[in-house]
Amino acid sequence: QTIYLKDYEVPPFLVDHTDLRFELFEDGARVHSTLSMRRNPESAAGQPLELDGDSLELESVALDGQALSDGDYEATPASLRIDSVPDQFSLSVVTWIRPQDNTRLEGLYKSSGMFCTQCEAEGFRCITYYPDRPDVMARFRTRIEADQSRYPVLLSNGNDVERGELDDGRHYAVWEDPFPKPSYLFALVAGDLVEKKDQFTTVSGREIDLRMYVEPRNAEKCDHALVSLKKAMRWDEEVYGREYDLDIFMIVAVDDFNMGAMENKGLNIFNSSCVLASPDTATDMAFQRIESIVAHEYFHNWSGNRVTCRDWFQLSLKEGFTVFRDTQFSSDMGSPTVKRIEDASLLRTAQFAEDGGPMAHPVRPDSYMEISNFYTLTVYEKGCEVVRMIHTLLGPEQFRAGSDLYFERHDGQAVTTDDFVRAMEDASGRDLSQFRLWYEQAGTPRLTVEDEYDDAQGTYRLTIHQSVPATPGQPEKQPQHIPFAVGLIGEQGKALPLRLSADEDENDAPTQRVLELTGDSHTFTFHGLQARPVPSLLQGFSAPVRVDYPWTRDQLMFLMSHDPDGFNRWDASQRLASDVIESLMHQPKDVRTDRRLLTAYRHLLADRSLDQALVARMLQLPTVAALIEQSETADVQAIHEARRRVLTELAVELRDDLVACYRRNQESGEYRLEPEDIARRALKNTALAWLLHVKDEEGRMLAVKQFEGATNMTDRASALRALVNSDFEGDRQQALDRFYGQFKEDPQVVEQWFAIQASSPNAGSLAHVEALLEHEAFDWKNPNKIRSVVGAFAGQNLSRFHAKDGSGYRFLAKRILALDETNPQIAARLVSPLTRWRKFKNVYSEGMKSALETLRDKPDLSKDVYEVVHKSLKD
Ligand code: ARG
Ligand code: ZN
Repeated sequence: QTIYLKDYEVPPFLVDHTDLRFELFEDGARVHSTLSMRRNPESAAGQPLELDGDSLELESVALDGQALSDGDYEATPASLRIDSVPDQFSLSVVTWIRPQDNTRLEGLYKSSGMFCTQCEAEGFRCITYYPDRPDVMARFRTRIEADQSRYPVLLSNGNDVERGELDDGRHYAVWEDPFPKPSYLFALVAGDLVEKKDQFTTVSGREIDLRMYVEPRNAEKCDHALVSLKKAMRWDEEVYGREYDLDIFMIVAVDDFNMGAMENKGLNIFNSSCVLASPDTATDMAFQRIESIVAHEYFHNWSGNRVTCRDWFQLSLKEGFTVFRDTQFSSDMGSPTVKRIEDASLLRTAQFAEDGGPMAHPVRPDSYMEISNFYTLTVYEKGCEVVRMIHTLLGPEQFRAGSDLYFERHDGQAVTTDDFVRAMEDASGRDLSQFRLWYEQAGTPRLTVEDEYDDAQGTYRLTIHQSVPATPGQPEKQPQHIPFAVGLIGEQGKALPLRLSADEDENDAPTQRVLELTGDSHTFTFHGLQARPVPSLLQGFSAPVRVDYPWTRDQLMFLMSHDPDGFNRWDASQRLASDVIESLMHQPKDVRTDRRLLTAYRHLLADRSLDQALVARMLQLPTVAALIEQSETADVQAIHEARRRVLTELAVELRDDLVACYRRNQESGEYRLEPEDIARRALKNTALAWLLHVKDEEGRMLAVKQFEGATNMTDRASALRALVNSDFEGDRQQALDRFYGQFKEDPQVVEQWFAIQASSPNAGSLAHVEALLEHEAFDWKNPNKIRSVVGAFAGQNLSRFHAKDGSGYRFLAKRILALDETNPQIAARLVSPLTRWRKFKNVYSEGMKSALETLRDKPDLSKDVYEVVHKSLKD
């Protein structure tokens, strides 16, 4: 049941027009579909018609208006086959489906009383029989009929062309989408929703109606999404020259949703947690996340919808490019350095882990069993880095020319990542043939850097070796084309001119160069140096690679305070802290933390000249996940313990500095979402967390006061988190109870409340997490609740999840087994904390492996979980 890229064939039939009529009822829905189809001239002649289905009940089939009888076709819940059809015909099919019972949340389903859809990747086949593949693009007309009082709002893609009343208190609406699209971009919503209206005037002067539809209780949580949407629309015009193309753009929020959001043409559907916000209920991080997701889905209108994917192996064509576009947007809206740090740390911990594990796959995978399992960090985030590298290699102007050419050349088509790269090549004249390996080879390249300083010559040589590790199915690798940005820092902390030859004028030489690595090893010689410089390597994280260079702790401290590249300042802080933590790992209790780390952090806390958002980031010690990723074979408990020791020592020694930092950054007036305010809150709340970590009495007083008096959720949730992570058990429970009492009607806040507990090494003991699953607000049918308890425990509470007795693993396996019956997509996602069992010391890996075996042995395992479990256990 594995599908291969090499087996791709053009679709035997095309659909010119798709006419749908939905009759929505309380016990099910009847779907009438009429497809105007014809044979694809590019395909082999005489093939039978075969349509995809999933759990469908067929009521009738007609060909060119003639009802077919049983012998004329072959129908199962998963396919409809008609052996002989003319070259051009109209096919009418009626199916009966049960959205009420749809717990998989794929296709048409119900979420808190409303009907909604999720069709990417293969959900449309749960609605009706269809050639459910992205290279079949049709114009859709959709008529929705439903009870008027329960479902006053009826939405689908495109323009609202007709509405009216029917008998029995029912009504209907007809929507027409003028743009041909694949079935995965189809959407339907029916519910009792309030409408928030706004407007946008495009660059060419067209007036666009913006509408947001939410449940009445969420009416006050729409402003931020609408503001973000308008910013994104303007930005896409200015930066990419992309204008919106329909007269109306709609956003709907639904509570039960497998992923973050979906870019359906003209009708984006969002997970409530990724779109609804108010200062009282959402943290700064949530506000920023919403801004970027709203932008992401909007940007898909061009990178995804106008130009779509030929097949699902090309998923990164739309996702990698669109993530790149949304990161550029966020970077323009806030602190670029901090945005880069956030993206790079996600990549370096989670994506590198994926790339080094049994599910490793290229940005353009070449096979899969279940496509839902390939909505991964590799396809999205590494895919984004690949596009970013093209941007770096070409420069902004040529990149923009390449993007323009891509949209112009492929508008209305379903294409491949190769077509994207070709447009970049054609517009810039650059040869990216070796660069294409980034799409084809899995695994994280490793760069090993050596240097040599020649005092007599005044030259400095950097030698860089590249290797790409073997990954499942790809034992041998070729060297990749890597843009490697470097700088050299001189004695006075000055960025030195980089002269690649002796006669280059030092005034012309830049202080940053992007070296292009294409072979196994390269040597670069820099001229005119007075002393040995400190290298600043991979500035701005210019490529998704690992870099090994033997920096000393003194050099790292030097970079922390002098590197002109903000990203590398942060990187130096992480390398220094990691090194200190790792060296303490198997040391007796009385071995103290290197004083230099303390000094570095004391300087940081006092540094008011540096971007305070960057300071807040640099103060964060590397996470346990990052430390696991950096180790050869991980001993989670030892890592956790060493990290805790360092944190304790720092917090004790820096206590007064932390209090001062807290007071200096305390709330002053109204809540504003400006970068300086966000930075101030981040810094203050980091200081608070550290103080509570060492049970500081003044810290406790400040936390309680902040918790009670907070005017926004960032401060309230941070105080709650600090208390929950502390040993002040009385305050912890009191704060948790008060918080829940105050916000129990708000699902998004309750989800935060769950996650704060489940991810806490203190509060989140297994017993407590089990108790949360019995809580009145917990709901196994709601993916957000599952993520905020089970996901947060297994993904963020690593010292508890990796209990040496294996209890955390058994807990997870048990939940996955149950979820496999109701929502296989979510079940499969939860397997991922177990997949990298080989990375861990025996005491852990044995338990992880046996949890995977428990899953493997379940009869009727879903395809989703089957794929992940079997690949993880392979040899
Ligand atoms: N295309 C959506 C986005 O990235 C994600 C939808 C994924 N859905 C899924 N069932 N895997 O914006
Ligand atoms: Zn996307």
